[in-house]
Amino acid sequence: MSGSIYEENKIGKIIGGSYSEGLAIKVEDDSVVENTRIGAILVSQTEKRKYYCMLTDMVIEGMNKQALSELPRGNSSSLLSRITRGTSIYNVFKAQPVLSYDLEEKKNQPIRNIPPHASSVRRATYDDISDVFGSFEKNPKRFFPVGSVLDMDESSTVCIDMERFIERSSGIYGRTGTGKSFIARLIMAGIILCDKASLLIFDAHSDHGPDLVDEENRHVKGLKSLFGSKVQIMTIENSSSMAGILPIEIDVRDVEIEDILSIAEELKLNETAQQVMIALKNRLETEGKHWLEEILVNGEDLAERFKDSEAVVNRSSLLALIRKLSVLKELPYLKYGRRPGTNSIDVILNYLQRGISVDITFSKSDKLLHYLFVTNVLSRRIYHRYMEMYEKYASNKQKYPSPRPLVIAIEEAHRFLSPDVAKQTIFGTIAREMRKAKVSLMCIDQRPSQIDSEIASQIGTRVILSLSDEADIASALAGMKNSKQLRSIIESLDSKQQALLIGHAVPMPIAIKTRGYDNSFYDFVSIYAQKHEVDEKYEKTIEVSKKWLDEMGY
Ligand SMILES: Nc1ncnc2c1ncn2[C@@H]1O[C@H](COP(=O)(O)OP(=O)(O)O)[C@@H](O)[C@H]1O
Ligand SMILES: [Mg+2]
Repeated sequence: MSGSIYEENKIGKIIGGSYSEGLAIKVEDDSVVENTRIGAILVSQTEKRKYYCMLTDMVIEGMNKQALSELPRGNSSSLLSRITRGTSIYNVFKAQPVLSYDLEEKKNQPIRNIPPHASSVRRATYDDISDVFGSFEKNPKRFFPVGSVLDMDESSTVCIDMERFIERSSGIYGRTGTGKSFIARLIMAGIILCDKASLLIFDAHSDHGPDLVDEENRHVKGLKSLFGSKVQIMTIENSSSMAGILPIEIDVRDVEIEDILSIAEELKLNETAQQVMIALKNRLETEGKHWLEEILVNGEDLAERFKDSEAVVNRSSLLALIRKLSVLKELPYLKYGRRPGTNSIDVILNYLQRGISVDITFSKSDKLLHYLFVTNVLSRRIYHRYMEMYEKYASNKQKYPSPRPLVIAIEEAHRFLSPDVAKQTIFGTIAREMRKAKVSLMCIDQRPSQIDSEIASQIGTRVILSLSDEADIASALAGMKNSKQLRSIIESLDSKQQALLIGHAVPMPIAIKTRGYDNSFYDFVSIYAQKHEVDEKYEKTIEVSKKWLDEMGY
């Protein structure tokens, strides 16, 4: 009977508080205090609606302040204790109202008022959660279960609204070892299952596409094993030993000056070297040559040619620049003099438009330089191509289809979004432009405080695992309402597999226990992404997108 469920979950009654400061709820039974945690979701239901609140504080109150310090708590059955408990001394929960749910229209609404005095408050039930967070069973193409409510059992599923998730950039933050990569992979699986966007993953530590061995030495299936033909793995290694994995090839002429500027630190290019490089580029461009190709292929000739023309560049700085850039000569994936259309950019774009996600895997031994360079060059080009496709579509919606939405996932996100480099990388633009060309970012990072603050506050959906550094917590919450209260929830998280979800893809902040990425999840995927269904759809998508790419002239 519903009455008894509500009775079981009863917390107490509203005795005070305000819309802005939060409600004060007098707790009826002492045992509730010990069985509840900060961040819990409390619900007060009136005839019209349900008010959802976030438990932000617990306070011991007394009618008479002196009584609080002087009365011994003593034996709980002692006469004195029985008289004072619940009347002159009691516990108060402070709860911030954050969302309301209209019972008639059955939909979420922003919170605009508070429940009246003495309204009863309960701990959220399963139904309370699924009413506002959506239900995978009812709408599997939209809602993806990522975990369960922290203080409820595992059947209290919490879903992310995938349509909204891909609409804006997202951030997954947490200290090393808290489970960022695991929850990121879960959400990536959700994106593939919902089939609303393609993913381009820059897999810095080979965590997502291929199978891996986790910290506890367990074999973990990667996205490729889970989704087969819906995922393509690529690497920078020339002779990959694994079948079906494609090598990355980048035409040197696709490298832009900003790509080099964004790895200036790794190449040890100081201010002067950067200026020389720009001057040289301008000079070579007037001759109709690609500056980097010229430097890498004809570096020595260049030094000779410009040796007397101090006006263009100082000879010794030119030599220094050529020497520093020569590191790039050894990159196996940088190719010279290819036919247009044969580089990986076209190949990747083709996959993405066909609904196939691409995972670019870097092995543990690959240098950071490779990761930064490849990620920058490919993302910049692909984003520009998306812009072109999008502009074509916007100019004539009958003729050109809208490009398939894209989510670009980057590990070590601060390397691309720090204040120093955010202006040079394309990622700053993508994060700021709020998905203009249907491209959004998924930023996975252990140091959110190193992300440019303007960008950090624009991140739509955030998954925050345990963080200890004050500055990291502040950045993770940048631009969010109630950040003071949310901070105490983050501080109360365990060091593994627990997260605070906030922002665009969830109706209200919620603390969750991350779903296990394990056999039961593999079963879940295999049920919902049945192979025949995938293959059949895959054929169809290929057909449609081939036609489309032809029309678009790619
Ligand atoms: N959802 C999960 N399911 C199963 N194991 C998990 C999950 N989240 C974290 N783990 C365990 O914790 C370890 C660290 O997680 P990981 O995502 O690699 O951390 P991070 O990327 O934050 O450094 C994993 O190797 C795994 O053993
Ligand atoms: Mg990781």
